[in-house]
Amino acid sequence: MKIKKAVIPAAGLGTRFLPATKSIPKEMLPIVDKPTIQYIVEEVIASGIEDVLIITGRNKGSIEEHFDRAVELENNLEKNNKEELLEQVRSISKMINIHTVRQKDPKGLGHAVCCAKSFVGNEPFAVLLGDDIVDAKKPCLKQMIEVFEKYNSTIIGVQEVAWDNVNKYGIISGEKVNDNTYNVKDLIEKPNRDKAPTNIAILGRYILTPEIFTVLENTKKGVGGEIQLTDGLKELSNIQDIYAYIFEGRRYDVGSKIGFLEATVDFALKREDLKDSFSSYLSKLNLK
Ligand code: UTP
Repeated sequence: MKIKKAVIPAAGLGTRFLPATKSIPKEMLPIVDKPTIQYIVEEVIASGIEDVLIITGRNKGSIEEHFDRAVELENNLEKNNKEELLEQVRSISKMINIHTVRQKDPKGLGHAVCCAKSFVGNEPFAVLLGDDIVDAKKPCLKQMIEVFEKYNSTIIGVQEVAWDNVNKYGIISGEKVNDNTYNVKDLIEKPNRDKAPTNIAILGRYILTPEIFTVLENTKKGVGGEIQLTDGLKELSNIQDIYAYIFEGRRYDVGSKIGFLEATVDFALKREDLKDSFSSYLSKLNLK
């Protein structure tokens, strides 16, 4: 079955990025000059998906506005013959069919995914976290869709992380079915290092089958008092095969300060209009 819909949960409180996220959604923080969530929507489009649902919440209105028309701004740019900027601004509102739904209480990622039930219906769908950017030659979601086409079952995007960091992620263990794919046997959300079966972490990209909704509706609160998608997936693994795919590409957790800074530097150094002046600035810094 073809993956036609993507869901971007973006209703979290962003406490790791306070005070900025008191009134600005972390998904709107720009990496160079583009909001994080736009990079993610561009990945969705580059992966051949036509409809996207963004799960929003209180204080997240600017996300909807970003993908809407900005008539006054467009008129002003037109009047002042700023055609390139005008084209840029207009193209954002034409990118793709964007739908939104509100998660009234941020009760966790599992709960946020449940809010997509009526949008998704009875078909497999993609989930991309609103604060995870993956820089890859082939879009990460496209890689995952190709794996889904092979197994026709739930696919989780993973990569190895440092052992010291396993307590920040959902961790999987399983049987290797080829160089980059595991048949998942166990999943555990944010384990302590000594309880983690592996250092293979779930990193913000999923293809889910619709059975996940029934499972999540019955999933109890887990780590942090939140309804965790990882706990739902563990339950789902009892009724269907789940595969973990080690995707290619560099993933940035831009909801963390260090991830945001790394993404900003790396993306700026890739920009034709910035790389010379920015790298010359960086080379002058007296870094120890
Ligand atoms: P995070 O755990 O990174 O988001 O969730 P958070 O809770 O906003 O972050 P901190 O830890 O407080 O800084 C991953 C993704 O899931 C969304 C977030 O917006 C983020 O894109 N999310 C999380 C929801 O949509 N709803 C929730 O209840 C929780």
